[in-house]
Amino acid sequence: MDLGSPKWVTMLIVCWLYKSINCNSVEQKIYVELNNTVPCVRLLNATHQIGCQSSLSGDVGVLHVLESEADLDWPLSSGPNPPYMVILESPLFTRSIMMKMKNASRRIAGVAVVIPNASPPQGFSPHTTCPNENTGVYSEKYGADLANCNTTVWNPLGNGLSYEEFDFPIFSLKEDHQTEVIKQCYFQHNRPANSSAPVYPLCAMQLYSHMHAVTDTATCMRRNDIFSINPEMMCDPLGDYNVWSTIRPYNNSVKGHKENETVVLAAARLDSRSFFWDVATGAEGSISGFVTLLAAAQALREVTVVAPPTRNILFAFFQGEAFDYIGSSRMVYDMENNKFVIDLDNIHSILEVGQVGVRTGSNLWLHSDPVSRSNASVNTEVMEMLANLRRAAAGLNFSLTEPTVSQPLPPSSLQRFLRARPIPGVVLADHQSAYNNKYYESVYDNDAYLNLTYPAGLNPEEKLEFETDTAKALAEVATMVARALYKQADGDEAQFDNIVADPKIVTQMLYGFLVKSDNSWFQALLAPELKSLLQPSPPEYYVGVTMSANSAVNTPTRLVQHILANLTGNATSLNQTSCQKPDDLENESKHLYSYLWVQGTVPPNGTEREGFCVRSSVRLAKALSPAFELGEYSSSAYSTWTESRWKFIKARIFLVASHDLEMLTLGVGVAVLLASLLVTYFVSSKADVLFSSAREPGNATY
Ligand SMILES: *[C@@H]1O[C@H](CO)[C@@H](O)[C@H](O)[C@H]1NC(C)=O
Ligand SMILES: *[C@@H]1O[C@H](CO)[C@@H](O)[C@H](O)[C@H]1NC(C)=O
Ligand SMILES: *[C@@H]1O[C@H](CO)[C@@H](O)[C@H](O)[C@H]1NC(C)=O
Ligand SMILES: *[C@@H]1O[C@H](CO)[C@@H](O)[C@H](O)[C@H]1NC(C)=O
Ligand SMILES: *[C@@H]1O[C@H](CO)[C@@H](O)[C@H](O)[C@H]1NC(C)=O
Ligand SMILES: *[C@@H]1O[C@H](CO)[C@@H](O)[C@H](O)[C@H]1NC(C)=O
Ligand SMILES: *[C@@H]1O[C@H](CO)[C@@H](O)[C@H](O)[C@H]1NC(C)=O
Ligand SMILES: *[C@@H]1O[C@H](CO)[C@@H](O)[C@H](O)[C@H]1NC(C)=O
Repeated sequence: MDLGSPKWVTMLIVCWLYKSINCNSVEQKIYVELNNTVPCVRLLNATHQIGCQSSLSGDVGVLHVLESEADLDWPLSSGPNPPYMVILESPLFTRSIMMKMKNASRRIAGVAVVIPNASPPQGFSPHTTCPNENTGVYSEKYGADLANCNTTVWNPLGNGLSYEEFDFPIFSLKEDHQTEVIKQCYFQHNRPANSSAPVYPLCAMQLYSHMHAVTDTATCMRRNDIFSINPEMMCDPLGDYNVWSTIRPYNNSVKGHKENETVVLAAARLDSRSFFWDVATGAEGSISGFVTLLAAAQALREVTVVAPPTRNILFAFFQGEAFDYIGSSRMVYDMENNKFVIDLDNIHSILEVGQVGVRTGSNLWLHSDPVSRSNASVNTEVMEMLANLRRAAAGLNFSLTEPTVSQPLPPSSLQRFLRARPIPGVVLADHQSAYNNKYYESVYDNDAYLNLTYPAGLNPEEKLEFETDTAKALAEVATMVARALYKQADGDEAQFDNIVADPKIVTQMLYGFLVKSDNSWFQALLAPELKSLLQPSPPEYYVGVTMSANSAVNTPTRLVQHILANLTGNATSLNQTSCQKPDDLENESKHLYSYLWVQGTVPPNGTEREGFCVRSSVRLAKALSPAFELGEYSSSAYSTWTESRWKFIKARIFLVASHDLEMLTLGVGVAVLLASLLVTYFVSSKADVLFSSAREPGNATY
């Protein structure tokens, strides 16, 4: 601390005024930075802004740890020291409490939600009850009586908080040491005793999360454009990349319709979200589905070489589906505009793997669209698909059932294809109507929810290999999916015994995607320069803004790309240089294949990793909403979600003196400053008299 600064002097005076306080502890408690916090940020669509933000200089409030809903009275009306910064235990993070605070936001400076280590048993979902209701296939014009979840509410636990707008900051706090410090500070200083006002100094919290963008996407994109000479971006479109591959490679430079080609599309979604920015675990919501599809792709690897089916199979992993189907709507758009290797006419049928990790009993459900099935020829193809799925499940440990005929499709990428044309399709899921998922799009949809428990005493490498019951169950589902795809592609049923998903691979994927991405398998799969993506924690599945910020690809996308390449591609003998430029070689072509250099493993008798070049048909395709491609920022057909930019995000706690006292302190501080200026002026002007021997006239700095 600069001893010359008046701040120090005023603090001395504060200490002197408050002899009862131990000055050291005040100084120590001043500004404890909270590091395990995540804010809720502002997102915008064509018509609204949602999320949270602080004022430009951050919001400060006196801490109040809420103990019950009734206790809200203190921060909202009776407490004498507004505004308040409310600390919520997770059971109190409800719609009712949040909306009461939203409506009294003058007295609320902000909210910090403590995220516990154990999930709430009754369930929690901050998402809407009817996810993506305006951008699916059902509308006034298409199955009007099925639109807006009229017949089936998919996410009945959804409280919609993720789609509200709050004009105060909301942060999450991990339940840990820091949360204890905060509570201790509250109980020592702020807790109202006998409902009498607590005395100053009080413990306060400051949250910074000021957001640059306002109003809606059109407004902020216009501002982006205005400032485009000196780019001062206000917001960026949400988006990343889809991952896709085919069992027979296509020349990726030849786009549009392919004559005499029919393709079975196998789809799953990659992303997830939660109330807070960038914390999205999506265990059941997305990972159960895409891990199953990855395992199915692996199960088909051998048989599609030995006994290739007539039709091709396209695996597609869609990004940004949580935000009005960014990835699937982009692929449909590209297919319609001859910007993809096939077009919609080439698609024979679609099998989508939805949430399949939380089964009740032994049931899986086959969802299809009653509207397109009212056309007899589409219905026939769907019936055949359902029959193929049942054949594929024969001898496995579960039963496949169809919901009642009048039920619409659950929210799914298939809906975006049906918007374009009546393609036969089925969505596989573990729920009949409402989701089994109690934690849809929330921070609690995590490894614990999928029962990824390991025997005590296993080290990380042993855990990676340990086959959990969940992995075995998902491997069975993957076997069924793989067999059904093979049959859909006109493969021979006699090959079914050769199509078996490997529970070992499923367990490794679940461990890497949900427990610890920095494991030996993921390390071996990635290029050396990508290893910093791996963390001792799972990756986050929020789609983010990687596309326009020109930063690298989202971590889950990268991982799925490399795993799919490992599971379906071939290790080649190309060296690192020819891996980057394989076109000079015979039988190699970047038009047909993609080439990834991976760092591999350390051989048993060696000391260094042995990298190699993997050839596969795995590609990335832009998952940026067509609304941004077309400049239609008010589009109602395509996702228009953008994320605001911000300068910085910060949270800290400290002790505040009362407002009056602060004013007094400031006054005293100003007085001291003036006095000291006068003194120094006096001293320096009389310096030649006072320090007659030392000074040279021109050298005085004051
Ligand atoms: C967070 O803060 C605590 C104590 O304030 C400190 O021990 C810890 O190292 C910090 N963590 C990080 C990641 O900075
Ligand atoms: C934008 O988001 C809000 C809040 O979820 C929603 O009510 C509105 O319908 C959305 N607008 C469009 C055009 O999708
Ligand atoms: C609260 O009130 C009770 C009874 O009126 C009294 O005994 C107690 O000391 C008070 N506590 C404080 C902290 O003032
Ligand atoms: C792929 O298509 C491009 C562009 O038409 C062509 O130049 C190239 O020879 C093709 N490559 C293969 C392997 O078919
Ligand atoms: C997890 O374990 C609990 C208790 O054994 C069980 O009720 C639940 O169905 C399991 N969930 C999954 C996804 O296997
Ligand atoms: C049913 O769908 C097929 C294929 O999309 C179409 O050719 C046919 O005209 C439709 N039939 C009726 C009755 O709408
Ligand atoms: C896939 O990964 C495994 C384990 O690291 C490795 O043994 C195998 O060679 C890899 N295969 C391909 C095609 O990359
Ligand atoms: C390690 O063993 C492999 C196969 O046994 C052999 O080809 C290779 O040369 C050995 N490497 C070293 C460094 O000894």
